[in-house]
Order: sequence, then C-alpha cells, then structure tokens
Amino acid sequence: MIIAVDGPAASGKGTIARALATHYGLPHLDTGLLYRAVGLTLLRAGGDPESEADAAAATTFPDSVLADPELRTEATGALASRVSAHAAVRAALMARQRAFAHQPGGAVLDGRDIGTVIAPEAGAKLYVTASPRVRAERRAREMERMGQTPDIPAMEAEIMARDARDMGRDNAPLAQAEDADLLDTSELSIDEAIQRAIALVDARLKRHRQE
Ligand code: C5P
Repeated sequence: MIIAVDGPAASGKGTIARALATHYGLPHLDTGLLYRAVGLTLLRAGGDPESEADAAAATTFPDSVLADPELRTEATGALASRVSAHAAVRAALMARQRAFAHQPGGAVLDGRDIGTVIAPEAGAKLYVTASPRVRAERRAREMERMGQTPDIPAMEAEIMARDARDMGRDNAPLAQAEDADLLDTSELSIDEAIQRAIALVDARLKRHRQE
C-alpha cells in the first residue's frame, strides 16, 4: 500500500506521515529532505539557485548530506523551494522517490507532488493543510523550544511566500490531487490530526476492498 501525504510547509504533514508509517508498519520518506539537500549542496558549491544547470549539478549530493542538521533550517527550506522549481531537479529526484514508493509492501511518502506526480496510483492520499497563521505559530513554538525568539508576522509572510512559489510554479505545483482527502489541522491537536488521518486512510482502504 502506498500512502501519499502532500501539503504546504508546516501543515503537520511530516508528523502525520511518520505516525501513519508507524501505525501501518511501513517505511517513510520525507521527500522535502531531498530538495533541501539539493539546495544546501548548491549553496556550498557557490551555485546560483536560479540557474537550472547549477541546481541540476547539486542533485548528485552524497547520502551523508541527508543527515546534516543544516537541512532543517528555514533558510534551507526557502532555498529548496527555489531549486525545486527547475524541471531538471525534479526529474533527477523522481526515480529515487518512485523506487521508494514501489518497494514491496508499500511506503508512506510526504511532499508536495506525491499524489499528483510521484505516485498517482497511491491507495490513499491526504492533502494536509492549516491556515498560514497557525503554521507560523507552530514554527514559532519550535523555535522557542530551541531558545530562539521568533517574529511570527515575518514567519507568516515567509510561509505565504513559500506557498505562492510552490503552488505557482509550472513543474509539479503543490495541489490537492482530485482523489485526495483534505485534512485541515488548523483546529486540531497533533493527536487529533493523527487519529483523523488514520480514520481517513482506513476508510479509503475499506472502499478499495469493496471495489
Ligand atoms: O517539506 P519541506 O519544507 O521540507 O520542503 C522544502 C521545499 O522542497 C518545499 O517548499 C518545496 O518547494 C520542495 N518540495 C517539492 N516537492 C516535494 C517536497 C518538497 O517541491 N515532493
């Protein structure tokens, strides 16, 4: 069984995808990390994020980059969103994601285009979202826990800019697949969001069994 979890930055999709993977005993891939690794590799090589050739060259990053703590910063996320707009970058990362999705037994993948491009055949698809303000507040709480002082309006503006870039690009824009279930986590606790996600996936699986 392939489970596709898509949605904008800080919507809770990563937490939900990890919980689904644990619940159904499936391996999980956070595909955003691959784009972040391209962004970070390009930065370290002194490349230009607007150059498709520079960005494509950075897709051959070594696996060790995937464990780099720098991948988790907001700055790397914003850089990832710039390099991910290039068709050559998306093409270079596609085979790896498809192979992960199609391993025996299935998998959970989260990202922006899993249900639409990487695995349109997924048995269950969730589109996880939340209001920009709620997402900015969640990021702010994470930063406070790390001892930093967040600027919530600035973070909200950054989140909205990233949404606009991810939804407005020509190549595999962030969009809800026609057959995806919408899960708005704005008013939900983490536990409630996870329970709702499991209920939606279970309902999909039941429907597939009846078909
Ligand atoms: O999910 P995360 O914030 O780590 O993603 C970073 C950026 O990578 C996103 O803003 C998006 O531009 C890009 N991305 C993508 N397709 C995916 C996953 C991430 O374009 N499947």
